[in-house]
Amino acid sequence: MMEFLWRFCVLMSTVMMVFGAGKRPNIVFILTDDQDVTMNGMTPLVNTVSLIGKQGMTFNNMFTTSPLCCPSRSSILTGNYVHNHKAYNNSISGGCSNADWQKGPEKTTFATYLRGMGYKTFFAGKYLNQYGTKDAGGVAHIPPGWDEWNGLVKNSVYYNYTLSVNGKAEEHGDDYNKDYLTDLINNRSHEFLEKQSTTTPPFFVMVSTPACHAPFDSAPQYVQNYTKNAAPRGPSFNKAGTDKHWLIRHAPNPMAKDSVTLLDDVFRKRWRTLLSVDDMVKNIVDTLDSRKLLDSTYIIFSSDNGYHLGQFSLPMDKRQLYEFDIRVPLLIRGPKIKAGSVTDYPALNIDIMPTMIQLAGDPAPKDVDGLSLVPVLIPSTTETGGLSRDCLIEHSGEYEVNGIKGCPNTEFLAQCSPDCVCEDSKNNTFSCLRHIDAKSSYTYCEMVDSESFQEYYDLIKDPHQLTNSIKSVKPPDLAAMHKKLILLQLCKGNGCRQLVPPDNVEIEGSV
Ligand SMILES: *[C@@H]1O[C@H](CO)[C@@H](O)[C@H](O)[C@H]1NC(C)=O
Ligand SMILES: *[C@@H]1O[C@H](CO)[C@@H](O)[C@H](O)[C@H]1NC(C)=O
Ligand SMILES: *[C@@H]1O[C@H](CO)[C@@H](O)[C@H](O)[C@H]1NC(C)=O
Ligand SMILES: *[C@@H]1O[C@H](CO)[C@@H](O)[C@H](O)[C@H]1NC(C)=O
Ligand SMILES: *[C@@H]1O[C@H](CO)[C@@H](O)[C@H](O)[C@H]1NC(C)=O
Repeated sequence: MMEFLWRFCVLMSTVMMVFGAGKRPNIVFILTDDQDVTMNGMTPLVNTVSLIGKQGMTFNNMFTTSPLCCPSRSSILTGNYVHNHKAYNNSISGGCSNADWQKGPEKTTFATYLRGMGYKTFFAGKYLNQYGTKDAGGVAHIPPGWDEWNGLVKNSVYYNYTLSVNGKAEEHGDDYNKDYLTDLINNRSHEFLEKQSTTTPPFFVMVSTPACHAPFDSAPQYVQNYTKNAAPRGPSFNKAGTDKHWLIRHAPNPMAKDSVTLLDDVFRKRWRTLLSVDDMVKNIVDTLDSRKLLDSTYIIFSSDNGYHLGQFSLPMDKRQLYEFDIRVPLLIRGPKIKAGSVTDYPALNIDIMPTMIQLAGDPAPKDVDGLSLVPVLIPSTTETGGLSRDCLIEHSGEYEVNGIKGCPNTEFLAQCSPDCVCEDSKNNTFSCLRHIDAKSSYTYCEMVDSESFQEYYDLIKDPHQLTNSIKSVKPPDLAAMHKKLILLQLCKGNGCRQLVPPDNVEIEGSV
């Protein structure tokens, strides 16, 4: 513990030296929708990789703590696990942008912090899936912390949408030159950045693209790209998950031919939509450069959750406990971050908020579940305390009580398309312990279903999670993992981080 405190002090003084003098750095946060890393989702983003990743740090192990849009986004905004912000699914009734969220967690996000620190804040794009609906207060609701607000009403689309522009509805049709949402976000952020200079207050820009979420409308100039590509045929592609929990066993294997044709098409379309994101990233970096702001700006790039196309015979979606749905990109460039650096440190979406606050020059908030990645980004005289971390992944399965029209026997299931293959169910509800240290990497999951099903994967031996090896786990190891998982499910603030070495805290002592 002393060692940890000492490191912490050294770190804090380093941070003060780095940021103490002069103006606070600017921050730009780029968030994509449903962008995977395990199916090479970064490949189309050539500029993003060269202008952010290669100019800063790339995280090899970045996870969402919930593989679904609204829960993950709520975690990103607040720095808290789902069980603490309580946005469990994408519905109003499940906490997505609802009154409880607005009265509680939404009042303490990175936007409110940064604005409180004197930042001028700007938002454009998708916010939370229910944002702008009548039940969520309509377009008049501007989440606290934002000076300039361009919030998409509801879920990602590229055309035919309503934006809340500072509380007033702005309707958009389907004229590419006027309405294509990724380009509009690009243009509005450009206009905002054009007004900033080295003498104006520090700014925070969040741009949140519909790409590469459905309905996958690409810009007209990109519809011919990637015509020869197809979804990767990795080891789990079209493989029956016979030793996995009910939902996965339930998926027909092999997949219908139509599903395979469709998912390959979706693969190409997703990449095409990302080309417009890459144009935006280049424009943002160019604009910062021309305003002489590039050297004083942190740029963070990530996604809300991963995605799968054909893995374990599931045609297309997210919501699963496997690596393809929980791994997301994280690239960060900015002052003092070494160009071309790469880290294996396990990072979580709940770390983005405290990381931003500390990059902005204040101490990372102690009451959030996530931790600041600044010691990883800007190593001080000491190392960062190793790689070891116990992370929690939580998902509450979505379902339709009466089933899906046109698909038989789909009570308590959801997302049953294409070919009536369901990608979610009430009992696809799980908590996983995702552990990484220098020598090991594993996932241990407990399902909330009638079988209390468990899954375990040693990701060093079985990176594609082909074999559920729960039966080979020794009873004491199983008991220890179960105990850690319970602690994580109940954790709050420091209690979530104390499970994290470097100081090898006794787990019993941490609650
Ligand atoms: C936009 O809405 C119009 C009018 O309902 C419709 O004709 C058009 O197909 C829609 N465009 C897209 C891209 O969905
Ligand atoms: C974005 O700006 C470019 C360049 O000014 C313009 O050609 C394009 O039509 C704009 N797109 C949208 C959606 O506003
Ligand atoms: C997209 O396709 C066009 C036309 O074939 C090509 O010129 C362009 O280089 C492609 N862009 C990318 C990023 O692959
Ligand atoms: C979301 O969660 C709420 C509360 O548990 C539940 O009533 C609702 O049915 C869920 N929505 C879906 C689509 O599963
Ligand atoms: C999961 O839910 C489905 C739909 O209600 C049901 O048919 C199935 O038996 C359940 N399986 C388990 C293991 O709970």
